[in-house]
Amino acid sequence: MSFPASRTSEARLSSEATRPGTAGKAAPHAERIESLISAMTLEEKAGQLTIMPAALAPAPANAANPAAVPGSIEEQAQAVREGRLGAVFNGDSADWHRRMQTVAVEESRLGIPLLLAADVIHGFRTIFPVPLAEAAAFDADLARRTARAAAEEATATGIAWNFAPMVDISRDARWGRGVEGGGEDVLLGCTLAVARVEGFQGDKGLTDAGAMLATPKHLAGYGAGTGGLDYNSVDVSERTLREIHFPPFQAAFEAGALSTMAAFNDVAGVPAHANAWLMKDVLRSEWGFEGFVVSDYTGDFELIAHGLAEDERDAARLAFQGGVDMSMSSNLYAEHLPDLVRSGVIAEADVDVAVRRVLTLKAQLGLFDDPYGRLSPERVEANDQPRYRDLAREAGRKSIVMLKNDGGVLPLRRDQKIALIGPFAEGRDHLNGPWVLFGDPAYAVPVDEGFRAAMDDPANLTVVRGSEAEASLEGGIEAAVEAARGADVVVMVVGEGERMSGEAQSRIDICIPEPQRDLIAAVTAVGKPVVLVLKCGRALVLDETAKQAQALVVGWFLGVETGNALADVLFGAHEPSGRLPISFPRHTGQSPFHYDRKVTGRPPLSLEHGEEFKARYRETLNVAEWPFGHGLTYGDPVYEGLDVGDGTLAWDGELEVSATITNRGARAAEELAQLYIHDRAASVTRPIRQLKGFQRVRLEAGQSARVRFTLTRRDLMFVGRELSWTVEPGRFTVWIGPNAESGLEGTFELLAGDAASA
Ligand code: NOJ
Repeated sequence: MSFPASRTSEARLSSEATRPGTAGKAAPHAERIESLISAMTLEEKAGQLTIMPAALAPAPANAANPAAVPGSIEEQAQAVREGRLGAVFNGDSADWHRRMQTVAVEESRLGIPLLLAADVIHGFRTIFPVPLAEAAAFDADLARRTARAAAEEATATGIAWNFAPMVDISRDARWGRGVEGGGEDVLLGCTLAVARVEGFQGDKGLTDAGAMLATPKHLAGYGAGTGGLDYNSVDVSERTLREIHFPPFQAAFEAGALSTMAAFNDVAGVPAHANAWLMKDVLRSEWGFEGFVVSDYTGDFELIAHGLAEDERDAARLAFQGGVDMSMSSNLYAEHLPDLVRSGVIAEADVDVAVRRVLTLKAQLGLFDDPYGRLSPERVEANDQPRYRDLAREAGRKSIVMLKNDGGVLPLRRDQKIALIGPFAEGRDHLNGPWVLFGDPAYAVPVDEGFRAAMDDPANLTVVRGSEAEASLEGGIEAAVEAARGADVVVMVVGEGERMSGEAQSRIDICIPEPQRDLIAAVTAVGKPVVLVLKCGRALVLDETAKQAQALVVGWFLGVETGNALADVLFGAHEPSGRLPISFPRHTGQSPFHYDRKVTGRPPLSLEHGEEFKARYRETLNVAEWPFGHGLTYGDPVYEGLDVGDGTLAWDGELEVSATITNRGARAAEELAQLYIHDRAASVTRPIRQLKGFQRVRLEAGQSARVRFTLTRRDLMFVGRELSWTVEPGRFTVWIGPNAESGLEGTFELLAGDAASA
């Protein structure tokens, strides 16, 4: 996949003509929309540009957005009845949604249907692995299927609009919200953005009862907050925005997403919520986006705290003029847009444009034709319990990454005596992850249950918590040590609790909390083989003791099938096949750390030397502990025989790059072959490596396969001096290998051609 240069208008028209359920579906409603707009009061127009938290919402939804003041159920119904409110979010009661829709359609003056939205991040009733974990599967089809399943469940409660996927590239493990995205890499990020949009929206058109409008968020740069601090200022170059942070949005819009959410942060001094360059010049003029922009929660109101707006009225003005069509939670548009128009500050025609966008989307979602279409009794009835357990288990095991397996301690034998130790060894509290509003933890399978089901004799399992996530337990270490002494092998489930990542959960030290480190030290000192299963929503840095465990496995937050998915992989019923979608650095101080960093003018010459005056730290080279793309299998895949043909890529041609992978191990291997390039001389500095392709290959013991990648000049594009996508002839290094810091290396040359067609 190549990164999008800005699209031509012809390309836009043709992709829209063929895409199901977008512009064409609103056309029959265009007249109705125009006559509604001409009949609407300014207050009703502002109402259509307002979304509020649902008055009836599950407790986690209220906890996630504590500042919300939605009013009582009756007050909210009255706001809808009076046309002051056109959308609500994060309710999950089909009955209440039906009642509210009835109020909108039958009791409001103009009968405009209500738009029901929600944060359906990684499942609705069936909770799948957190998005970062699922990214480890490097599997677009899987991401599409889990998003589709989430949409099927969510839409059955009437929800038609999803505040997902989060497509922010995250390269700083201190930032807690990386858990919600696709990791650090642009190609993987684009691939998952497209898959998730396709999954949420489905392939039957947006009017379909199971279709849920996707919202790639947060535009833009939210993952690049200074110091990894959530909500913090972002000050990256326009080149970095265009090359790293924009492409997943562009890919998601090209896949048909018709809404987006502004980011909380400022970008180079201008908050996204008041950034007309971003929301108008780039989003609409360059990319041709025709959907609508919603604020992130009270992001418009926050323009006061940013120091841009003088007061609430000014904040509403700045956000609206900055290109934010709909205001979430603050109610500022409802309160101030009418007066801003009446006093001549904002033109009514501009308000009409935003209202038209929102009504057009309501029409495209089928709400004018059948406001209750998603709420059929059969769908509501099927929605009580998680419906997609098999898929959740498949996604869970494909998300697991094995970092280390010394002496083949894994897979575990089913007849072994196992001590299962750690704060997450049992219980349902830390399985689903930080961003679940609608899934009931009671449905999740704990780790110990998964283990017992996989063992010959469940009595061979001893379970000891040993400590809490961030606090010690009295007698915990002693009990854990005793359990370890009596076992053949120890499995420790340690790391972060589920509230240690997610929104507003930035960390200054991405370590395992101290009480757990003490526990690990005491248990490993017993001398039994130790497997560490890491629960985390970000990269972790391990201390020396933890690193010495015989086996290390990243187990993330895997959702409803956590225990079973882990047991599937740890006991060897399935091969480990996940790969790191983020680098695991050696120290927190390397943050932000990502594999495709720049070479610099003074790269260290060797991994061994303590060379002075090189780009390294006093204490360590600036390389990963476990690099992006890394992940082991139970087999032993060996890469050989790189072939780059004649080593030239004609300007309009293709170059096949291939290698042979042989599994020299005794068990099957699920290998993920990765292709990286480096541009050796260009008009702007280029990263050490960039991922340009990946493919999965399953190899039985002793089996070989040839993996083939095809490169064209589009794969070699970058944002040049003029800040537009370009490509330059010259020499490139290419690797095919198992991760971002190794592989077979070759070179090729892109031959000069007609630069005008770059
Ligand atoms: C704030 C979050 O940043 C955003 O992603 C989410 O959609 C809204 N809250 C609404 O819950």
